[in-house]
Amino acid sequence: MLRLTPSDRVFILTGAGVSAESGIPTFRGAGGLWRNYRIEEVASPYAWQRDPRLVWEFYSMRRRVAGEAKPNPAHLALARLEQALGDRFFLCTQNVDNLHEQAGAQRVVHMHGELFKSRCDSCNRPPFADSGTYDPPAALPRCDCGGTIRPHICWFGETPFEMERIYDALEGCTLFMAIGTSGVVEPAASFVAYVRHHARAVYVGPEEPSNRSSFSDAYFGKAGELLPTLFEVDGKPLTVGG
Ligand code: APR
Repeated sequence: MLRLTPSDRVFILTGAGVSAESGIPTFRGAGGLWRNYRIEEVASPYAWQRDPRLVWEFYSMRRRVAGEAKPNPAHLALARLEQALGDRFFLCTQNVDNLHEQAGAQRVVHMHGELFKSRCDSCNRPPFADSGTYDPPAALPRCDCGGTIRPHICWFGETPFEMERIYDALEGCTLFMAIGTSGVVEPAASFVAYVRHHARAVYVGPEEPSNRSSFSDAYFGKAGELLPTLFEVDGKPLTVGG
């Protein structure tokens, strides 16, 4: 049981593992390849310049898969924890699906962007909701300015979103939890090193992450099985779905 006291401020970092039990494949697990492309080969500005149709085919496939997925008990437990902790809770996700929101999470920081949003690759029109799919031979979606509409995703080599807010929350937390992330992609993989001198650092997942040595505790298992009964908030076990 992970005890949270009234003075605890919790920073949660989630990765693809949190959505695995909802049927969305992780990146570096067995199903992590797409048509023999590594994620780095279709999720980069270079791939977008070289073959935007292939990039849209990849994200159209991901929109279809994520569109079928439902939140699992891990998402529900985190939404319940947010409800119990209020502004003592900060959820940063590397995931681009919207399952945290579907489970009831109110304040989700998507540092790698959002699958069901698009934006123009030329003008500074704000990102907009878009669950469309654009498979070849469909024409590439165009902006009124003439630019091409791209997925609102942070690609390899681009700067993740909301980093200032994220580092503020890391500085202020007393408990850092990484859930379902292999700890290999920066900058998220270094968040635990950033907090370990002022916060408890806990890992939840079925196997050791690459940055395991920075964590003070680890709960090995599936997030959907562990999270619903893991938390004790201000002396009372957190009930999920109650
Ligand atoms: N519950 C919890 N964790 C799980 C589960 C589960 N049911 N199933 C798998 N995992 C763990 C795996 O052990 C692995 O450590 O989830 C992690 C998934 O790791 P990755 O596939 O590397 O995903 P992630 O760490 O989120 O990748 C980070 O890389 O490709 C980029 O931008 C992409 O956001 C992604 C980033």
